[in-house]
Amino acid sequence: MPYDIVLLPGDGIGPEVTAATVRVVEAAGVSVRWIEHAAGLVAVEQGRGTLPGEMLDAVRRCRVALKGPITTPVGKGFTSVNVGLRKALDLYVSLRPVYSIPGVRTRHEGVDLVVFRENTEGLYAGREHEVVPGVVEALKIITEGASRRIARYAFEYARWRGRRRITVAHKASVMKLSDGLFLKACRDVAADYPFLEVEEMSIDACAMQLVLEPRRFDVLLMENLYGDILSDLCSGLVGGLGVVPGANIGDTAAVFEAVHGSAPDIAGQNKANPTALLLSACMMLRHIGETKAAMRIEAAIARVLGESTVRTGDLGGRATTTEYTDALVAALSSGESP
Ligand code: NAI
Ligand code: MG
Repeated sequence: MPYDIVLLPGDGIGPEVTAATVRVVEAAGVSVRWIEHAAGLVAVEQGRGTLPGEMLDAVRRCRVALKGPITTPVGKGFTSVNVGLRKALDLYVSLRPVYSIPGVRTRHEGVDLVVFRENTEGLYAGREHEVVPGVVEALKIITEGASRRIARYAFEYARWRGRRRITVAHKASVMKLSDGLFLKACRDVAADYPFLEVEEMSIDACAMQLVLEPRRFDVLLMENLYGDILSDLCSGLVGGLGVVPGANIGDTAAVFEAVHGSAPDIAGQNKANPTALLLSACMMLRHIGETKAAMRIEAAIARVLGESTVRTGDLGGRATTTEYTDALVAALSSGESP
């Protein structure tokens, strides 16, 4: 029986990296019935609004989706489809594993950390209005419930994955009430895990420490906007946006997507690195229990990036998206199973 998985190709480089990912997942022997839906710009052009109801229904029914990036117009136009999707499906966990990949040369080696980001509220929710011309107000809403559930998820994850230390990054010295509440919720949850090491750090100091000494970090836990910014910083530690995967997880559905956006500067040119979405697809395969296929794809990526010169421009190579994907498919068909 094939798996029913919703596919949201998105826009910009989205269709290119999702096509590459579909090819590799199929080459790994997983049988999937991809249920393709439009969202964002593409859906608007079809006159169906940014978040078509049938797309949301499909994700609710299949419970799993693989998503390409979706462009959000800056300063005007429709509100973020990504934010809307996370809210509509209550995908309250953003999980982004950041680890060094053999063969991808960076300033730091041996980075292996996980960023947990609250995914539904905070300043990033984009609740803003103009009070009078020349004055706008943005609301940073933090609730005890949302803070507790992301903290609970992060601590449970740490416990089961053998992670030792959780760093809660915040700015409660200044945002006394909002970040203060987030921090308090994290402390309350932490009390249930006395065997895990918990560290509290100012978000600004955390940014510096990440750049200086990223290996000291294990699990990072923070609210929405801080997580957005630090996820990109963290991806810079291990080779950039082209290699860092992610998942948006709720109690009833999960949407897997790379950290990066639609990269309009290289869209449609067969230049995009599909690794980030491929590794997101590996997270998805583990989520549905296809652990072996995930391991085979991860091994193929490690082999191609570690042993050959076939790589995309963002990693200093000259391969097109297609050539790199061909190399992965070849590695999968020749490679021994892990
Ligand atoms: P971006 O991540 O799209 O691009 C930043 C830089 O990284 C660009 O130079 C781009 O070429 C490069 N890059 C990103 N992914 C790459 C890949 N896979 N391979 C090679 N190079 C890659 O960020 P930007 O420019 O700030 O955002 C562009 C659009 O994407 C915006 O409309 C933004 O709102 C949207 N966006 C959507 C996200 C999503 O759907 N989850 C996440 C982040 C941004
Ligand atoms: Mg971001």
